[in-house]
Amino acid sequence: MLTEDQVRQFHEEGYLFLPETFTPEEIAALREEAELIYRETRPEVWREKSGAPRTAFAAHLYNEAFGLLARHPRMIRPIEQLFGEQVYMHQFKINAKASFTGDVWQWHQDYGTWARDDGMPEPRAMNIAVFLDEVMPINGPLMLVPRSHTQGVLAAGHDTSTTSYPLWTLDEETVTRLVAEGGIVAPTGKPGGLLMFHGNLVHGSAGNITPYPRKIVYLTLNAVSNAIRKPTRPEWIAHTDFTPIEPTDDQALTRYARRVRQQAAE
Ligand code: SIN
Ligand code: MN
Repeated sequence: MLTEDQVRQFHEEGYLFLPETFTPEEIAALREEAELIYRETRPEVWREKSGAPRTAFAAHLYNEAFGLLARHPRMIRPIEQLFGEQVYMHQFKINAKASFTGDVWQWHQDYGTWARDDGMPEPRAMNIAVFLDEVMPINGPLMLVPRSHTQGVLAAGHDTSTTSYPLWTLDEETVTRLVAEGGIVAPTGKPGGLLMFHGNLVHGSAGNITPYPRKIVYLTLNAVSNAIRKPTRPEWIAHTDFTPIEPTDDQALTRYARRVRQQAAE
């Protein structure tokens, strides 16, 4: 459960960072699976213009380890607490930000896309980032503009050319104004960190020219009463199964990691 101070920080700043929420053992199992998924050729795996992996959607539906992460109580319970109701998975992706070739994510708000493309009524969906690699100031960390979530949905243009992934992006004037007010933060830390941020918080990330990959799983948990009304994107990008998530017990992912390690040793 979140403390009163943490809840207040989330509402005021638009984000909350909980370092080392998952153990090295849990994260190692997820990281290995992510690397295998990126090698697959399937519609859910998007590549950069260079061919390097950019993101893998919906892995919780075709991979046991990510299926367990998607139901993890260390993540689900705090979000239920903040929304005061059960949640379902709106989107699930593993962003690679590959060494040397990981491309930018331009400045944007996620709720802008959920409203425009998916018909989501309110910004009552939470973005959660789980660090699979160490996130450093140098390997393309996620950058957030604190307090920008108070601005509602800002005007955005549909950028279909900068990267391989079309995105509703903000113009430089808007970002300059918001940054003058709130600054920019880039939470960094060991694998296992958990960062939650409001659907209207402005964010983006630079390219990664270092030898250090920066894999982050992004889950979007939507309040069940706020289910999307007008889906236009494929089911594996904006899910239409609105079944409330039943969390696993706290050790389910750890047990999975131990079982897989034991099997590999046999
Ligand atoms: C996103 O905003 O959806 C992804 C940003 C990142 O992975 O850096
Ligand atoms: Mn985003």
